[in-house]
Amino acid sequence: MEKLEQIYEGKAKKVFKTTDPERYIVDYKDDATAFNGAKKGTIVGKGVINNQMTNFFMQRMEAAGIPTHFVQELSERETLVKKVSIVPLEVIIRNISAGSFAKRYGVEEGIVFDAPTIEFSYKSDPLDDPLLNEYHALALKLATKEEIETIKKYAFAVNDVLKAFWAECGVTLVDFKLEFGKISDGSIVLADEISPDTCRLWDSKTHEKLDKDRFRRDMGGVEDAYAEVMKRMKAHDAN
Ligand code: TMP
Repeated sequence: MEKLEQIYEGKAKKVFKTTDPERYIVDYKDDATAFNGAKKGTIVGKGVINNQMTNFFMQRMEAAGIPTHFVQELSERETLVKKVSIVPLEVIIRNISAGSFAKRYGVEEGIVFDAPTIEFSYKSDPLDDPLLNEYHALALKLATKEEIETIKKYAFAVNDVLKAFWAECGVTLVDFKLEFGKISDGSIVLADEISPDTCRLWDSKTHEKLDKDRFRRDMGGVEDAYAEVMKRMKAHDAN
């Protein structure tokens, strides 16, 4: 399998074609952005951590019966994945109030919900990823009813696996964002990444933030936070 030309460069990753038309290579960067690219920076070593953490969790999801785009880790920053067409929806699951939820509804951060919530945003940089509901997604033909049902089922299942895993590491899973793709046979698979860029992770005891909010909110200690969650993930895996 050979790496061919780059077909896409996102804010945190590049995607390359390969000699296999059904496989892409994802290459994780250290670049960090927030607020739709308005804030830019570098988190040294982030690409390596996000690549390895994502692959670790993708394999856990497969084991739990959730299909993913993961094929094989190729290097510290590169992973072979199935070619997907991304469903243009950001799928956000929340267990605890934080971020845009707290702001939109005028509540404090840290309220533990009785049951997780799900919401969708339309993945569109020019429109700034507007929030939408299932009816809007259907009207815009972003996905079919069946695909949305599958995505919801998988997203809550990811939450169950991820929340339980992090709890065993002394980390509280506050919320996270997923993206799904369609492979050549038309089926839906989990794609993109699962990392401190896309999850809010708080130390269970101190509630210290161990994720990208440290970058978004200029809190400092960003690299240390990523290294800390990676260390806890690996330590748990070794048990
Ligand atoms: P929010 O509270 O800002 O809506 O973010 C919810 C979760 O989604 C949080 O874990 C961060 C993640 N997220 C992304 O991965 N990408 C994004 O562009 C945004 C806005 C949030």
